[in-house]
Amino acid sequence: MKTNILLLVCLVVTAIFGVCQGSSLKKSFYEKTCPRAEKIVKSFTWKHVSSNPNLPAKLLRMHFHDCFVRGCDGSVLLNSTANSTAEKAAIPNLSLSGFDVIDDIKSAVEKECAGIVSCADILALAARDSVSFQFRKPMWEVLTGRRDGLVSLATEALANIPSPFFNFTQLQQNFANKNLTVHDLVVLSGGHTIGIGHCRFFSNRLYNFTGKGDQDPSLNSSYAQFLKTKCKSLNDTTTTVDMDPGSFQKFDSHYYNILLQKKGLFQSDAALLTNKQAKYTIQELVRQNEFFEEFAKSMKRMGAVQVLLGTAGQIRKKCWKVNT
Ligand code: HEM
Ligand SMILES: *[C@@H]1O[C@H](CO)[C@@H](O)[C@H](O)[C@H]1NC(C)=O
Ligand SMILES: *[C@@H]1O[C@H](CO)[C@@H](O)[C@H](O)[C@H]1NC(C)=O
Ligand SMILES: *[C@@H]1O[C@H](CO)[C@@H](O)[C@H](O)[C@H]1NC(C)=O
Ligand SMILES: *[C@@H]1O[C@H](CO)[C@@H](O)[C@H](O)[C@H]1NC(C)=O
Ligand SMILES: *[C@@H]1O[C@H](CO)[C@@H](O)[C@H](O)[C@H]1NC(C)=O
Ligand SMILES: *[C@@H]1O[C@H](CO)[C@@H](O)[C@H](O)[C@H]1NC(C)=O
Ligand SMILES: *[C@@H]1O[C@H](CO)[C@@H](O)[C@H](O)[C@H]1NC(C)=O
Ligand SMILES: *[C@@H]1O[C@H](CO)[C@@H](O)[C@H](O)[C@H]1NC(C)=O
Repeated sequence: MKTNILLLVCLVVTAIFGVCQGSSLKKSFYEKTCPRAEKIVKSFTWKHVSSNPNLPAKLLRMHFHDCFVRGCDGSVLLNSTANSTAEKAAIPNLSLSGFDVIDDIKSAVEKECAGIVSCADILALAARDSVSFQFRKPMWEVLTGRRDGLVSLATEALANIPSPFFNFTQLQQNFANKNLTVHDLVVLSGGHTIGIGHCRFFSNRLYNFTGKGDQDPSLNSSYAQFLKTKCKSLNDTTTTVDMDPGSFQKFDSHYYNILLQKKGLFQSDAALLTNKQAKYTIQELVRQNEFFEEFAKSMKRMGAVQVLLGTAGQIRKKCWKVNT
């Protein structure tokens, strides 16, 4: 009898411990250990966005890159070491930015409760909060409890981040590698409703699409004329253009409108029109409520890719280096 009760107690304790250890991400993971964590991330993110309207695009893209390489483990934030070239240095021109903002938020959170909140969670929350600033309310739910990884490798970034030159099959495969569907692919590509792109990622479509000095026939020709006034030659490496012209700082469903007018900037955007299911989804996502709802769901799925939980990894003290 006594041993039975003991066994039961053990089982219950183990179960509770298992939950506390985290077998999955949770709502308000830091409620007990750092109750103000999410508030601090939000207020610091909003402070930064209010002085830099381009920041939401930077942080949203950074979170995406984090999740696609080794899962959402903050590895994108690590700097190179004497021994290894980090993800952020992968292609010198991968052109991620906003690292200083994450460091600033992390310092504030560490001041409140040191060693509790992971950089991976801070990035996931800051991406959400930065995009949400224009609405003054959270646009999707971010579950927490991610732990920080110890490894960041440039070679893995190159192998896992989808290229803007990918066709539909390649994009579908790239997302499937993360257990994300064609639906997720189309919905998350809607992230391109904010931000900018460098000429070198699309000017082949303007000047030399098949090596015959030609233009990409799937690109709207009047839009191509406009883009040529921005990107004057194939070797322009500095100019950028708005990905969603006319609304590049507004998080909305307008990206899908421009896709249907053949004004998607990258081949990877245009490729979404080449698949029947994807095209059907695009036509649905033009409706803004539909887009917001679906984006919230897909971000939750992306934010859970290969996360480190429980006692895996660590909680970094500084987001740019592993604890020594
Ligand atoms: C589907 C495959 C994708 C490809 C091939 C792709 C490719 C690119 C490229 C080449 C740029 C331009 C970078 C530059 O010139 O500085 C870019 C920008 C951006 N991407 Fe994507 N992306 C993809 C998916 C996503 C996803 C899933 C998200 C987030 C949900 C996202 C969010 C962004 C944002 C916000 C920017 C603007 C960054 C800025 O303004 O600095 N992208 N993407
Ligand atoms: C880490 O890398 C960022 C750029 O990604 C750089 O601005 C920063 O100075 C680096 N930090 C240290 C301590 O080397
Ligand atoms: C770098 O490599 C050297 C030799 O392989 C090793 O002793 C050292 O611990 C490594 N440092 C880091 C930070 O990984
Ligand atoms: C990166 O951009 C610089 C100029 O901004 C250019 O000289 C260099 O060739 C580019 N590198 C790659 C790998 O695209
Ligand atoms: C997509 O690109 C891959 C690799 O270049 C190629 O093998 C495949 O045939 C292409 N698919 C389509 C539908 O164009
Ligand atoms: C995808 O799902 C399979 C089966 O559940 C799992 O084994 C695999 O680790 C998952 N991959 C990723 C990247 O989450
Ligand atoms: C266009 O591409 C072809 C084949 O790759 C190349 O021979 C030619 O030099 C390119 N033209 C320009 C203007 O770069
Ligand atoms: C760009 O490349 C072309 C050849 O492809 C060359 O004739 C031209 O001088 C280059 N322009 C600049 C600004 O480097
Ligand atoms: C190309 O853009 C123009 C002007 O924005 C638009 O009127 C036209 O419908 C677009 N063409 C296609 C094929 O969608």
